[in-house]
Amino acid sequence: MIDGSDRAISSKTSFYSVNFSESDRLKILVVDDHPSSRMTAVALLTIEGYDVVEAESGPVALKRVTEFNPDLILLDVMMPGMDGYEVCRHLKQDEQTRLIPVVFITALGDKRSRIMGIEVGGDDFLTKPFDRLELSARVKSLTRQKRLNEDLDHAEKVLFSIASAVESRDPNTGDHCERLVNMGKAFGEYLQLSRADIRHLMWGGYLHDIGKVGIPDAVLLKKGKFTPEEREIINQHVLIGEKICQPLRTMRGVIPIIKYHHERWDGTGYPDGLMGDEIPYLAQLFQIIDIYDALTNERPYKPAYSSEEALKIMREETDKGWRNPQLMEQFAEFIASILPQPATASNTPHRNF
Ligand SMILES: [Fe+2]
Repeated sequence: MIDGSDRAISSKTSFYSVNFSESDRLKILVVDDHPSSRMTAVALLTIEGYDVVEAESGPVALKRVTEFNPDLILLDVMMPGMDGYEVCRHLKQDEQTRLIPVVFITALGDKRSRIMGIEVGGDDFLTKPFDRLELSARVKSLTRQKRLNEDLDHAEKVLFSIASAVESRDPNTGDHCERLVNMGKAFGEYLQLSRADIRHLMWGGYLHDIGKVGIPDAVLLKKGKFTPEEREIINQHVLIGEKICQPLRTMRGVIPIIKYHHERWDGTGYPDGLMGDEIPYLAQLFQIIDIYDALTNERPYKPAYSSEEALKIMREETDKGWRNPQLMEQFAEFIASILPQPATASNTPHRNF
């Protein structure tokens, strides 16, 4: 009979053995319309212990990528029909293949080809004839980088899954996160923020309350008013969220939103009681979106307010000193700009999100 601990050990063993065999045999795709060039690369890479597959054209290369899922692609630039740039563009736009390193094979000193290669997302360049040591070093370094990127990608996906599990724990919030992501993108674009800031705002939509994973159900799902002790526990979610996301470098831009989305302009918020522009700008902005969405959607303790009613409440709170007045007005202008008929649309404002 296998008890729980045996099962844990056996699943661990198979997990490690899969990883081991994968790292043992890295797969390389060599794409070149000249058979002799392919043969040279294949011979060198096979000696180095790689599994190598060949493709003689762009379309065949894309097919092989799907079948073979290579760890790296050596890609000739000049090929009849679909050239190397087009192949690379395809691969880098596809979620499934964007992390595969692409090494362009160019002629020595061909600066224009290199610039084009960088523009379409190429990761490195090699010149013909191949130097065995150089080829080996480049392949090793890029495949190692790919594994790291994949680990990072997996870690990000785990965080998004945790955030989604947190949201589904609370049946009262509905698609709150999804709406915040859409509104964050729209308001960010309205304010002409950088692409990076817009991405942070969108990620904030999913991840801002990830720390609620550490709050017990008895407190999180309590109906009625919180006691001061329970409020204290709930408030911890911003710090728990910060702790969860901190180890990942790619989360740096979104952590200020996670940590500070409950601060108030006059210093009466939490966790640090920051005042005015001490509060990171994206956190100020995100809070406005978060509150607007909460007000315009039904919750067990309140109806869904119209857009006008929500903005009125938010302006009153801004007058009390809770929010950045300038940003609040920009948000009101943004809402007016997206409502199809401002005079009559007060009952259906958030359908856009
Ligand atoms: Fe929160």
